[in-house]
Amino acid sequence: MITIFFFLLCLGVSDGTRGISLEGSKGKWQFLLKNTGVVSMHMALTYKNTVIMFDEIGAGPSRYPLRKRFGSGRRCTRRAKDLMDSTCFAHSVEYDISANSLRPLRLDTDPWCSSGSFLSNGTILGTGGYGKGAKRIRYYTPCGKNRQCDWNESKNYLSDERWYASTQTLSNDRAIIVGGRRVFTYEFVPKMGYGEKSYNLPFLQQTYDKSAKGNNLYPFLHLSSDGNLFIFANRDSILLNPRLNKVIKTFPRIPGDGSRSYPSSGSSVMLPLDHRDNFQKVEVMVCGGAATGALRNAGKGRFIEGLRSCGRMVITGNNHKWEMEYMPEPRLVHNMLILPTSHILFINGAKLGCAGYDNAKNASLEPYLYNPYKRLGTRITILESTNIARMYHSSAILLPDGRVLVGGGNPHGRYLFRNVSYPTELRLQAFIPHYMDKRFNSFRPSNLTIESYGGGKSYGIVYGREFEVRFMVGKFVSNNNEVKFSAYAPPFTTHGLSMNQRMLKLRCKRMVQKISGGWVTAVLEAPPSPHVAPAGYYLLTVVNGAIPSMSEWIQFRNA
Ligand SMILES: *[C@@H]1O[C@H](CO)[C@@H](O)[C@H](O)[C@H]1NC(C)=O
Ligand SMILES: *[C@@H]1O[C@H](CO)[C@@H](O)[C@H](O)[C@H]1NC(C)=O
Ligand SMILES: *[C@@H]1O[C@H](CO)[C@@H](O)[C@H](O)[C@H]1NC(C)=O
Ligand SMILES: *[C@@H]1O[C@H](CO)[C@@H](O)[C@H](O)[C@H]1NC(C)=O
Ligand SMILES: *[C@@H]1O[C@H](CO)[C@@H](O)[C@H](O)[C@H]1NC(C)=O
Repeated sequence: MITIFFFLLCLGVSDGTRGISLEGSKGKWQFLLKNTGVVSMHMALTYKNTVIMFDEIGAGPSRYPLRKRFGSGRRCTRRAKDLMDSTCFAHSVEYDISANSLRPLRLDTDPWCSSGSFLSNGTILGTGGYGKGAKRIRYYTPCGKNRQCDWNESKNYLSDERWYASTQTLSNDRAIIVGGRRVFTYEFVPKMGYGEKSYNLPFLQQTYDKSAKGNNLYPFLHLSSDGNLFIFANRDSILLNPRLNKVIKTFPRIPGDGSRSYPSSGSSVMLPLDHRDNFQKVEVMVCGGAATGALRNAGKGRFIEGLRSCGRMVITGNNHKWEMEYMPEPRLVHNMLILPTSHILFINGAKLGCAGYDNAKNASLEPYLYNPYKRLGTRITILESTNIARMYHSSAILLPDGRVLVGGGNPHGRYLFRNVSYPTELRLQAFIPHYMDKRFNSFRPSNLTIESYGGGKSYGIVYGREFEVRFMVGKFVSNNNEVKFSAYAPPFTTHGLSMNQRMLKLRCKRMVQKISGGWVTAVLEAPPSPHVAPAGYYLLTVVNGAIPSMSEWIQFRNA
């Protein structure tokens, strides 16, 4: 028997849109559920293919009534007293993606406007919140179909109250939590040794705008590939060395008036890191936000246009300058998600006002597709619009099958459905991007499996090691049969932030295709270090030109 192999091109050289036309492909919307019960103010995807959603406990009764209270197990009746009792309702749910179903989760303290990240073993780390929840650390260890797992509050507390703080996983398997309302410090979880406290960060005091409820809350955090942390708040940004607890760089202020951080609430993304420069170049982008005075005016019923501007800046090297460009419309309280194609999806949001209860108007119903590799001025395409407003307290998250889950929205302190312009939004949708169009099916790589996975007792791929993937592909998009590979760290999303979101374009070393059956085997190289990719679960995707496969989970780990 003779088996014939084709050797395929492993190098990623084009921007991935050559070869097929995406003309007229604006994506579409899918309706999933009428009632998630709980506003998905916060969302996080687990490696068991479920999505954790949660709201604030202080909002009172949700639309997910419980038969028995968590904890005491006391029955919840239809009596008025119980119907008003917040403990007779769920405030967090787990959404099963394939079953399109929900189950309630227990929350003991209020995670309102909290932050989160992931441990290297896939456990969600939730930090902070409101009232008794402000110093709490919560864990959620996903268990998939087993259906036993739940939130678990740690006996250890944060040093400071973290309400509107941001979290980022670092290269040493710890998370850093930065800021919070009236808190000008950062701290690490888990604590190093006994009694490690928080560290002062004068930058948070300097960027604090008292007249605008901060305008520097929920700072944007991005872990650079040199292990340093980029922190953006209001209009300014710094680079913090988290090992030495030292600010090592102050970047130029982003041009233009207005602010980008809560409650002005623009959004930010770290563009994909690329093996072709050994993941050296790191570029961040900040888009949208609110005009100066937006909060004060919203309080008087006047809604000022948000910002249209986007700024891009390379944060590595020594030459830092914001390159500015403009969106077709103003945008704030929106999400920016990296798609498997390495393009950025802008979704949800509003055009006027700012974040906070009743502070925004004119929902941004049209997502934008942003291609970072195109020429300035030609990067944004307007996609298919929805008819559901997703403004304050909404969120969106990329799913392993390539869709984007969209939920939430509630500009009120309670669940309100009548007599308001923007009712509490419990409908769940997915945005199905252009690349999932049926007409691209023959190009779509399928049956992706990760081979030579770990070995021995421990699971996962060690930094810098080679590993093998197998998949099938019918037709190649480009004439030189070019296929690319990406690894995506899914975010913890809330308030337009996608904490910990990270995309890596992986090095492919060899690739062959068996002539019969279309099976392709590729040898890839894991990222070189936890600076480039903190240990944990990533979504691995094969991209044929501009058409991605469904993603598979892969874990990167230290030796
Ligand atoms: C991950 O680590 C946390 C903290 O050590 C632990 O509570 C959790 O059970 C672990 N998860 C798994 C899946 O092993
Ligand atoms: C929380 O964790 C503790 C200690 O690991 C364990 O004893 C307890 O059963 C857990 N509770 C829940 C609700 O999972
Ligand atoms: C906001 O909505 C109003 C009413 O629909 C409309 O007249 C106005 O032009 C919109 N403003 C923007 C900036 O879209
Ligand atoms: C809603 O507004 C209408 C007319 O303004 C009023 O009759 C009705 O009672 C209001 N409903 C609620 C639930 O407030
Ligand atoms: C590829 O996956 C599909 C389902 O996605 C399955 O039906 C099919 O049998 C798989 N093909 C092979 C050769 O494993």
